[in-house]
Amino acid sequence: MKKPITLAVLGDPIAHSKSPSIHQAFANQWGQAVDYQAIHCPPDALPATLDRLYEHGFQGANLTVPLKEQALTLCDQLTPAAQMAQATNTLIRTPTGWLGTNTDGQGLVNDLNDRHVVLKNKRVLLLGAGGAAAGVCGPILDAGVASLTILNRTEARAQALCDRLNDPRISVRSFEDEPKPSDPPAFDLIIQATSAGHAGEIMTPPGTWMDEHTVAYDLNYGPAHAIFSKWAKAQGLMVFDGLGMLVWQAALSFEHWTGFRPDVGPVLAALRENDL
Ligand code: ATR
Repeated sequence: MKKPITLAVLGDPIAHSKSPSIHQAFANQWGQAVDYQAIHCPPDALPATLDRLYEHGFQGANLTVPLKEQALTLCDQLTPAAQMAQATNTLIRTPTGWLGTNTDGQGLVNDLNDRHVVLKNKRVLLLGAGGAAAGVCGPILDAGVASLTILNRTEARAQALCDRLNDPRISVRSFEDEPKPSDPPAFDLIIQATSAGHAGEIMTPPGTWMDEHTVAYDLNYGPAHAIFSKWAKAQGLMVFDGLGMLVWQAALSFEHWTGFRPDVGPVLAALRENDL
């Protein structure tokens, strides 16, 4: 029998990660053995853990909170996706060390595509300017949006992200700003990328920034999505959670490691039915 491909997800905490079941489901589709381990790894243990995985022949690893930024400094090479996001969620073994890439933003774009939410020429409002928000900007811009506007509790952080990405379509807005007369009145898509929902909190844009055509997408899922979902529905918006993005980012990682592109649909359906 062929030796299984060995993979891992590292994070702190890690016990509740859905990644092992998602990747096991992908392995079943692929029809080859995969050993995907969840490893608890606090930040100070990351350098030694990555060395150990490399020595033991692991083919790749996923990184989750709080390791995605720190891991950049431990990679031998980075893809443009990881550089743009300033974070890596996927490490790929190379003969010389780890290649770091990032599949989060493309995972979001692919999930939006599955939901028939068009990005091309659309006006997008991004709530948040932390790591999760930074991770999705590159692929959103690459998808051809007309504009990407960032609203963050701490405006200076939004401005820093805007400056770093340096694209004429990105701007920062504050809560008090009314739309310019030249702007269409409403955003087409609102992407919720703050971590406020984890604390049962929420940051919402003024009602004048949206209309009945505006779609909302929350990068959070599960209990952390509840408060945003409730707010969006009360505004009459169609709202999606980030579970599809979670499965898509995993599928893109799996494809990097194995060359096999999993079918996301059945795995997402099983997760929604609590079957995974
Ligand atoms: P992550 O990696 O999840 O993005 P992060 O880098 O710490 O985590 O960023 C958290 C984001 O959520 C930031 O945009 C943060 O706003 P600030 O930059 O002002 O800190 C936002 N956030 C967290 N809690 C929030 C709250 N209660 N209200 C509004 N924004 C919040």
